[in-house]
Amino acid sequence: MAVTILGIESSCDDTSAAIVQDTQLLSNVIANQDVHKKYGGVIPELASRAHQSNIVPVVDTALKQAGKTLADIDAIAFTRGPGLLGSLLVGTSFAKGLSISTRIPIIEVNHLQGHILSLFIKDENYDNPPEFPFLCLLVSGGHTQIVKVTAPLKMEILGSTIDDAAGEAFDKAAKMLGLPYPGGPEIDRLAQEGNPDAFQFAKPRIKNLDYSFSGFKTSVLYFLRDRMKENPEFIKNNLADIAASVQKTIIEILIDKFEKAIKQTGIKNIAIAGGVAANSGIQKAISELADKIKGKAYIPPRKYTTDNAAMIAIAGYYKFLEKDFAPITIEPLARYNI
Ligand code: KG4
Ligand code: ZN
Repeated sequence: MAVTILGIESSCDDTSAAIVQDTQLLSNVIANQDVHKKYGGVIPELASRAHQSNIVPVVDTALKQAGKTLADIDAIAFTRGPGLLGSLLVGTSFAKGLSISTRIPIIEVNHLQGHILSLFIKDENYDNPPEFPFLCLLVSGGHTQIVKVTAPLKMEILGSTIDDAAGEAFDKAAKMLGLPYPGGPEIDRLAQEGNPDAFQFAKPRIKNLDYSFSGFKTSVLYFLRDRMKENPEFIKNNLADIAASVQKTIIEILIDKFEKAIKQTGIKNIAIAGGVAANSGIQKAISELADKIKGKAYIPPRKYTTDNAAMIAIAGYYKFLEKDFAPITIEPLARYNI
């Protein structure tokens, strides 16, 4: 018998609901919150309010698009954390309320595990689940980790950022350039036209598999400040070159440690997940790295790399197989390790 899961994601600024039947995606509805754009970042209070008004129509639409009703749902999977607490509370409380009224069991999902399991989503155009074991470079707005995955729910963190995440590095650099939030896609777009070797920025010197982006961020800040003093038009006149150089440096920082992890573990199945995995430069770098090590690269479609409920529903499916249900007293967690 096929298992049908409703997934709910509300950890940051997107409200999303999805339906999967086993690993086959039936619907994935995302309501983006434009309200944060004018502030240049996510305002937690506004995010919670927007989730509150979006969640009922988003879940309703996901069910309709999948051709399902609540009577078809075997479990409700929701993001427990990590994320903004007020945002997580909306999804968690909604899942709990729905469970009480329908008697459908709930499954709590770690958002980061969800990002990695997005690689297992199947749809009409995509069906390329990684072979185990694989190494995943998990790069999002809040996290940057190298994760060894030996089974759908068996994950081990080999390295992590000690300060900013890769997405934050993109977003902060973009903000310095006067680009709108989120800056990652803007830099990606501008970088296509620029010279990645035009400018050099600092890279960290950390011995283990951990990441750091704070030195890089400071080097971009000082570089721009000095050049703008000489020429107030500097950013405007060199935008594409700066974007391309910023992107190249972030990718080199990411790939350097990832390659080290491949060497240390001998694992040659490599994958990428999380919002920054949408970056065209990083996708190219991962493919080239796989060729270099004679391994295999797994890159999910862009729509599954940024926050979405399909990945939460898939994670819910694997937890359903283990009968890993959550009690109704469950609470969200702002910090939550894999
Ligand atoms: O995974 P995600 O949607 O949310 C979190 O869980 O954090 O990741 C969002 C991050 C943002 O920092 C955004 O700038 C970045 O992913 N991002 C990109 C691209 N698309 C999204 N960064 C670089 N290039 C992109 N194309
Ligand atoms: Zn995310």
